Amino acid sequence: MFRLPFFKKSKQNKQQIDTIHNVPEHIAIIMDGNGRWAKQRGLPRLAGHKQGMDNIKDIVRTANKHGVKILTLYAFSTENWKRPKSEVDYILKLPKEFIHIYLPELIEENVQIKTIGAFDLLPEHTQQAVNEAKKRTEANNGLILNIALNYGSRDEILQAIKQITRDVQSNSLDIEKLDEQIVSNYLYTKDFIDPDLVIRTSGEQRLSNFLLWQIAYAEFWFTDVYWPDFDETVFEQALHDYQSRKRRFGGLTNNKLKQE
Ligand code: IPE
Ligand code: IPE
Ligand code: MG
Repeated sequence: MFRLPFFKKSKQNKQQIDTIHNVPEHIAIIMDGNGRWAKQRGLPRLAGHKQGMDNIKDIVRTANKHGVKILTLYAFSTENWKRPKSEVDYILKLPKEFIHIYLPELIEENVQIKTIGAFDLLPEHTQQAVNEAKKRTEANNGLILNIALNYGSRDEILQAIKQITRDVQSNSLDIEKLDEQIVSNYLYTKDFIDPDLVIRTSGEQRLSNFLLWQIAYAEFWFTDVYWPDFDETVFEQALHDYQSRKRRFGGLTNNKLKQE
């Protein structure tokens, strides 16, 4: 009795997404709930992180299928260092494992791997693995898989303020010319358009220091589903809901291009 309407609904959504082209170009996801997913199953938190890592490939595939251009995934925040060392060490080994398992498939799918965050402060082995993945995918021109690793928005803005100040002091930047676009160029995200849609899993409704400058006009979508269970059907529900949002950017029409 419960299953039938659910099945009907997801099938209907699938059809709509396949034919409607208002797909967000840049989606940013706060992948939350790995620990609770594990706890729910009587497993250690680390098992949740492993399952969460394995989920990324499926979500990349779905994003690719619908023509998303940039997928930014929040994998480790500047505040996550507060966790027990054993958990931090484990999380920071996952990029290497992910790359080892999935890089050939990602290359085949024409995915480019990029990162945002304080990269130099990551362990050497994490940096090496990620750098290799970046290098091996740099000639690709498909979906950008942008991983936020040791990322914190306030830290990013602080570093930008410091660099802007240095550039003004050394006369390489005229303070009178400083505008929003120039500030954006000092951020890790300088090569990307701002996210159109931010998704957070696990029922939390907060940003946890994610892309504060960049998501000034993003749409938000929250789900109670824990990240390891966030599958194609749930993702497509988010895409479907996005398609009916009216984005006005402070104006009166629902057209991003017209506003810019
Ligand atoms: C998200 O899952 C992964 C990271 C923050 C690294 P959590 O580890 O935060 O899982 P919960 O929120 O404790 O369930
Ligand atoms: C946000 O999740 C960071 C990542 C998903 C990497 P957290 O679990 O760290 O966020 P809080 O502490 O609940 O706000
Ligand atoms: Mg969490």
